[in-house]
Amino acid sequence: MKAKKTALITGANQGLGFETARQLAKIGYYVYLGSRDKSSGIEAIQKMNDLGLNNVELIEIDVTDISSIKSARQMLEIKIPQLDVLINNAGIAGEQPQNLSSYDMESLRKVF
Ligand SMILES: NC(=O)c1ccc[n+]([C@@H]2O[C@H](COP(=O)([O-])OP(=O)(O)OC[C@H]3O[C@@H](n4cnc5c(N)ncnc54)[C@H](OP(=O)(O)O)[C@@H]3O)[C@@H](O)[C@H]2O)c1
Repeated sequence: MKAKKTALITGANQGLGFETARQLAKIGYYVYLGSRDKSSGIEAIQKMNDLGLNNVELIEIDVTDISSIKSARQMLEIKIPQLDVLINNAGIAGEQPQNLSSYDMESLRKVF
């Protein structure tokens, strides 16, 4: 039997990431749902299960924390021989509105 294609989506516990995860799971991908917060991730997995999607699994990952990224990678390496799709969705918009002449560098770096 052909193995399911795999996908990791960061920041997938809500918003566009969640919807992308849902749609990929629906078409048969095995989806690793990335969440920096474990309880939000568990809730998102529960929502997927309630939608009848059981081919979704939580991976804790904070994209600004190198040790978290390494742990997620190690976890995936144990589970699968390859990742077919990586969607780097996680992100923040920063405080709004962002006035170009007064927005501080620290906030800009955080968003970047
Ligand atoms: N929606 C738009 O109109 C729009 C426009 C332009 C760009 N984007 C970008 O598209 C992406 C998704 O947008 P969205 O509207 O779905 O945003 P959202 O609802 O705020 O979701 C963002 C997701 O990213 C996660 N996240 C934030 N920082 C993270 C980090 N350091 N490590 C791991 N996860 C992190 C959040 O986790 P928590 O739940 O823990 O906060 C959340 O799951 C973002 O990168 C956003 O900047 C969106």
